[in-house]
Amino acid sequence: MRRDQAGPEAGVRTGGGIHPLLAGRFSPSRFDPDAVVDDGALGLLLEAARWAPSAGNSQPWGFFVSRRGEPGHGRVVRHLAASSARWATDAGLLVVTSARRYVDDTPLLYSEFADYDLGQAVAHMTLQAEALGLASHQFRAFDLEGLTEELRPLPGWEIISMIALGRAAEEPPEGRDRRSVADLLSAPWTPEA
Ligand SMILES: Cc1cc2nc3c(=O)[nH]c(=O)nc-3n(C[C@H](O)[C@H](O)[C@H](O)COP(=O)(O)O)c2cc1C
Repeated sequence: MRRDQAGPEAGVRTGGGIHPLLAGRFSPSRFDPDAVVDDGALGLLLEAARWAPSAGNSQPWGFFVSRRGEPGHGRVVRHLAASSARWATDAGLLVVTSARRYVDDTPLLYSEFADYDLGQAVAHMTLQAEALGLASHQFRAFDLEGLTEELRPLPGWEIISMIALGRAAEEPPEGRDRRSVADLLSAPWTPEA
């Protein structure tokens, strides 16, 4: 697998010329414990997710949001793994993401693209966060069973991931690892005979 190393100025260094919002995004492992995600910012993050594309416009996403100091925050924080609790607890906002995978209590798929579409909604949300000067760190390091018992998603809905959002309290790490564009184009395909 061919890889590129990219530093903080990845968009420039790689010559890709990608948008600064994309080039500047990284997942911090330290958040400012005093920074607040205000109502306006929270509303814009959700509005950005709402406008993501989805298969058949099925919009199979849903979120549980809680900010530091709000009652819902404790309900989520107690299910964090030790590895994520170290930094996610300080973030101003925790988002639990959920996808509607099934039609209610049946084994029928609500949409075969439910997780894919949720990912797009989250990408919208995280880029809107960048535009607001907020960083985000998506993660799976939490007790899925415990959080599911806590939030009790309705039939058909499943918790997929979490996102910590807030003010980054560190710079992007040096030497971020990415596969090369050439590898993206070649890795999946059988070479022509
Ligand atoms: C679905 C998903 C799950 C992730 N789970 C974790 C996690 O459990 N713990 C963690 O520290 N980071 C987690 N991450 C963050 C990735 O490790 C991170 O995005 C990746 O290393 C690339 O780094 P960057 O976001 O700074 O570019 C997750 C990211 C995604 C999209």
